Amino acid sequence: MALLEVEGVNVVYEPTRGQRIWSVRDVDLVLEQGEFVGLVGESGCGKSTLGFALTRMLRPPARLEKGVIRFDGVDVSTLKGEELRRQRRNGFAIVLQSGMNALNPVRNVEHHFGDILKAHAHGGEHYPGATVRRRGAELLDKVGLDASVLSRFPHELSGGMRQRVSIALALALEPRMIIFDEPTTALDVIVQKAVIQTIKDLQRENGFSAILISHDLGVVLEATDRVMVMYAGRVVEDQPSKDLVSGPHHPYTEALLRCYADPRADEIHLGGIPGTPPDLSLPQAGCSFTPRCPLVQDICRTLDPPMSPLGHGSAACHVRAPSAAVAEEGVNPVH
Ligand SMILES: Nc1ncnc2c1ncn2[C@@H]1O[C@H](COP(=O)(O)OP(=O)(O)OP(=O)(O)O)[C@@H](O)[C@H]1O
Ligand SMILES: [Mg+2]
Repeated sequence: MALLEVEGVNVVYEPTRGQRIWSVRDVDLVLEQGEFVGLVGESGCGKSTLGFALTRMLRPPARLEKGVIRFDGVDVSTLKGEELRRQRRNGFAIVLQSGMNALNPVRNVEHHFGDILKAHAHGGEHYPGATVRRRGAELLDKVGLDASVLSRFPHELSGGMRQRVSIALALALEPRMIIFDEPTTALDVIVQKAVIQTIKDLQRENGFSAILISHDLGVVLEATDRVMVMYAGRVVEDQPSKDLVSGPHHPYTEALLRCYADPRADEIHLGGIPGTPPDLSLPQAGCSFTPRCPLVQDICRTLDPPMSPLGHGSAACHVRAPSAAVAEEGVNPVH
């Protein structure tokens, strides 16, 4: 059984009365035990929102409109209170997009460890200061930080150190799945590489399943086994990382790959993606990539393609991965 099975998840933001933003649409995904998967896509395509939905961190005005999120066989999408806390313990955790915002500026690092351990302590279990310090030091060691960091406040740490502290905090409950939301975006390239390497090492040693969210395809390709590509709230391609580089299926993935410079290549030609992503507050007719797509066909304007199996993965594209039902009718080129 897969660790995480997600079916038909929709998340909508309702910031004001009558306004709706469909940020995550019809997402299905599977995460196996010990698998390390990347989630990429342009800013605003719904990556963080999906990460929040999967770890039950959505807060108003966001709402899980529909869908099933099965973690270890249990539908966690409707759990509340103590039941949800029980699933979180040894269950799932998220490392937030900005390490600085995730930490309380007026509390030292030890305090953060104390809060997590106490909030999720089994009934009656005590966490005296000495225990928190010992466990905190152990966890900091795992992410390459010295125990002296325990007494420091967030503003006394570098960006890379703060991100490592956030990762150590996520490890505190020994989760079986961790979602890393842009863990290295604000960091310089050298620190970024070191933090990603730490995540990879931890994942291999501890065997948790992980989703690495990033808008940087290069980072994701180097770190993960499989990549999911998101566009306008939908997952549009899902392939093993090595297949995605050598043979992307969705035209959006092709465009993303052209934006990514492989430093090992002899010549580097960088291309942008013409056009802009759609307004997610408007209902989408057909495939959302249509206005930017070089392969567009008539059917793309009216029917949103479902994810269909292709190669070692799947893609949502009428042209590249015609679904069985649509293939029977044929695809008519636009003249
Ligand atoms: N608090 C909010 N209120 C209203 N709409 C929101 C809110 N947060 C996000 N959205 C909408 O949801 C969409 C998805 O946002 P999300 O933060 O999930 O994108 P993302 O892919 O993580 O982007 P980034 O790469 O910039 O972090 C955005 O386009 C935005 O319009
Ligand atoms: Mg985000």
